[in-house]
Amino acid sequence: MEKILVLGASKGLGASVVEELAKHHPYLLIVGRNEIRLNSCAAKLAKADVQTDIVACDVFKSEDQKRLFEMIEDFKPDRIINLIGGGPFGRFSEKEWKDHAWAFEVTFLFSARLLHFALGSEKLQSLKQIVFTGSSVAENKADPNASSYSAAKHALRGLVYSVNAESPGVDLRLYSPPYMDTNLLPKNAWPRESGQVCDPTVVAQHMVRWIFEPPSGKFHNTYNGE
Ligand SMILES: NC(=O)c1ccc[n+]([C@@H]2O[C@H](COP(=O)([O-])OP(=O)(O)OC[C@H]3O[C@@H](n4cnc5c(N)ncnc54)[C@H](OP(=O)(O)O)[C@@H]3O)[C@@H](O)[C@H]2O)c1
Repeated sequence: MEKILVLGASKGLGASVVEELAKHHPYLLIVGRNEIRLNSCAAKLAKADVQTDIVACDVFKSEDQKRLFEMIEDFKPDRIINLIGGGPFGRFSEKEWKDHAWAFEVTFLFSARLLHFALGSEKLQSLKQIVFTGSSVAENKADPNASSYSAAKHALRGLVYSVNAESPGVDLRLYSPPYMDTNLLPKNAWPRESGQVCDPTVVAQHMVRWIFEPPSGKFHNTYNGE
């Protein structure tokens, strides 16, 4: 049975990805901050005969990252899928620095540490795939009112492209979703007001289908509405 670690699994796109993955009957380790939401997600999966462990942690905190990495080494995943990301919404100059620092840490620096840890750990011999979540807009275009989040997604894209060029020895991928109807997008965000948001359950189906496709050299995929 495959073991799959899903980070950012308690709501939004991550929760839909977990529901899709459940159809493949893996053994899941799901991660988020909210323990109640993680538990109810695991209870739902148990009804579908999917064994699920949870880790409630805040990856903004270095002590939680350390604990999480130890648990990952114990779990020994075959695949890692990281969906954690976020940032403040509003003009760059009007948001507090601590909010931008949160966006950089949670959206980029944690991902970079996770990749460095996973590629370097001798205990993760069975690891064959690592998938990060970009953004079809924020990672390569201007994203007004989400500047620190956009900068972090640009950095994540640069990291995945550059490490892939080093032939890292695992199937390292980047999946870039469109705007979606999740809590990440504020109620007054323009993509929502102009009706440009996709259903995360549909995006999750596309994402999981691609994750299970054998490596083909195409390590970056964007939701194309199919
Ligand atoms: N929504 C969009 O329009 C959109 C567009 C393009 C790309 N994306 C990307 O898609 C991914 C998922 O986005 P989403 O819209 O599903 O977001 P979401 O609804 O806000 O869900 C984010 C998930 O990440 C977890 N998380 C957030 N901060 C965390 C932290 N510090 N430590 C541990 N877990 C944390 C949350 O857990 P808790 O709830 O338990 O805190 C939740 O499970 C993100 O990488 C996002 O950048 C989203």
